[in-house]
Amino acid sequence: MSKRWYQDNRRDAWRRIARSKGYRTRSAYKLKQIQERFGILRKADVVLDVGCHPGGWTQVAVEEVGEDGLVIGVDLLATSPVEGARIIIGDVTEERTMGQIRDALGEREINVVVSDISPKLTGRYDTDQTISLELSTLVLDASMEFIPSGGSFVTKIFQGTGIEGLIDAAKDRFSNVQRYSPTASRSASSETYLICQNRLPKPRARAQGKSALEQVQLHLSDLGVVVEEEVDEVETKVGFKRLRKREEG
Ligand SMILES: C[S@@+](CC[C@H](N)C(=O)[O-])C[C@H]1O[C@@H](n2cnc3c(N)ncnc32)[C@H](O)[C@@H]1O
Repeated sequence: MSKRWYQDNRRDAWRRIARSKGYRTRSAYKLKQIQERFGILRKADVVLDVGCHPGGWTQVAVEEVGEDGLVIGVDLLATSPVEGARIIIGDVTEERTMGQIRDALGEREINVVVSDISPKLTGRYDTDQTISLELSTLVLDASMEFIPSGGSFVTKIFQGTGIEGLIDAAKDRFSNVQRYSPTASRSASSETYLICQNRLPKPRARAQGKSALEQVQLHLSDLGVVVEEEVDEVETKVGFKRLRKREEG
């Protein structure tokens, strides 16, 4: 049997399991496995689920936090209601959406941000990885408004150029940062998750006064990757800058 056949079968198996248990996506099992390993979601927690459509992670988060918890899901796309969750349609990188999240919170404080956010894939790995890196970094920056000291952050990342910049930026903000690849992910997938626990009361010295995005851009510039101001011609909901290797000489 080919490796591809084995991978497709494994993926289908997770999809079947998810469906039989009433979850909307195979991805639900990725969050379940993250939860089994790290126990990031606790009863009565307030959870922000970024990139929640079609709602698999939201379903898992609602189960974990129970009736006293609150799950707020946000996505560009409309998500069918998930009992026990508040759903917001919007771009998480926009201030308007941040305002909607604040309104949904009322007096409550977020304990955990989980983000399975993924751009609309173009099929060109370098482009997709670059857009994903910037998107995850923007989500980290946005989450800093909400996550209190001691809180947690989980994000999907795609292996590739610049990822260490994001991991370093996370380590400057959380005391415990680990990479984790759930078995429910495709075995050949370059996707992995960054599990960030215990937000520090203030960022480590080298990150003070800097956003995570600025840190990642500095890291890319150190690698010789130039950050251009022009927008890539690839259609995407978020306007990302094109990154290219600095020309030699
Ligand atoms: C892999 S899906 C999430 C699947 C989800 N965790 C589940 O289990 O159902 C990634 C989602 O990120 C969303 N997304 C991408 N860019 C976004 C943005 N700027 N703001 C909000 N959501 C975004 C996409 O619309 C997509 O639905």
